[in-house]
Amino acid sequence: MSNKGSIYKPLKAKVEKVITESPTIKTLVLIPESEFSFKTGEFIELTLNGYGEAPFTPSSSPLETKRLEVTIMKAGYVTDKIHALKPGEVVGIRGPFGRGYPVEKFYGKEIVIVGGGCGFAPIRSLLYNLMAEKEKFKKVTVCYGAKTPEECIYKPFVEKLRKTERFEVYRSVDKADEKWDETEGVVTVLLEDIKVDIKNSAAIVCGPPVMMKFGTLKLLEMGYPESDIYLSMEKNMSCGLGKCGHCMMGKYYVCKDGPVFTYDEIKNEPDIWL
Ligand SMILES: Cc1cc2nc3c(=O)[nH]c(=O)nc-3n(C[C@H](O)[C@H](O)[C@H](O)COP(=O)(O)OP(=O)(O)OC[C@H]3O[C@@H](n4cnc5c(N)ncnc54)[C@H](O)[C@@H]3O)c2cc1C
Ligand code: FES
Repeated sequence: MSNKGSIYKPLKAKVEKVITESPTIKTLVLIPESEFSFKTGEFIELTLNGYGEAPFTPSSSPLETKRLEVTIMKAGYVTDKIHALKPGEVVGIRGPFGRGYPVEKFYGKEIVIVGGGCGFAPIRSLLYNLMAEKEKFKKVTVCYGAKTPEECIYKPFVEKLRKTERFEVYRSVDKADEKWDETEGVVTVLLEDIKVDIKNSAAIVCGPPVMMKFGTLKLLEMGYPESDIYLSMEKNMSCGLGKCGHCMMGKYYVCKDGPVFTYDEIKNEPDIWL
């Protein structure tokens, strides 16, 4: 039987595998003690006994309830400890929390996804969801950017995606090496060359704040309506329940009202790109 997890009490989950994606990013494959379900784009709080907890968006398919993958960039205290975890160790998961991607609203449309760095984590979960019902979408174009070829994550998944009908993947790195045969430059450069029917399309942006800002500006310049640009926002969080106020962005609680918002919902709120 699948449950929605608990928002208060961490569910125990065993680390089955640790995948090194890049020098700074690892994916944990977790087996929860009972089935755990979430909608793509929703997030969890991952608890490390004795150290604390931090929010992450699962990077695995929302259709899988017996295992959960979380892709984590080393950023500070808790993520340092998470990177040191070994198979067999146990963590806690609370959630899921928030509002994820409204996949049903994308039916019949073309989807353009702009992702950078560890922002590919929620996007991979969304892509698994889209791949499972690919006949419902016209085309899915993924533009992904990383700092260097070494920092590009999910290499086997990208290969699989490239072989999937209706899916196209373009990648760029800020600084190429001699083996890199894709684009060099910031991720927004990739948007210059894609073919998309903007009137029947939705765009999704997820990545570091500076990428989210320039990705959004580029999409607006291309003619996307503000209401068709979906952003996955990250703010410092504590309770995850709309109680403590840590995650406030103007009138919104990112933990409860987001993390996924359309640009027109949040464009007038303060500090959206910080
Ligand atoms: C909804 C949501 C989903 C996220 N999903 C992912 C994910 O899938 N993968 C991933 O690697 N990271 C994700 N993050 C960011 C992740 O939560 C932070 O990197 C983590 O909390 C840092 O904890 P720390 O103790 O290691 O760092 P700290 O020692 O607390 O701080 C290190 C730096 O990280 C910043 N930071 C701390 N907490 C957060 C936070 N909650 N959000 C943003 N920056 C923060 C601090 O301001 C500081 O600059 C997500 C954040 C949110 C809000
Ligand atoms: S994290 Fe406490 S209100 Fe959002």
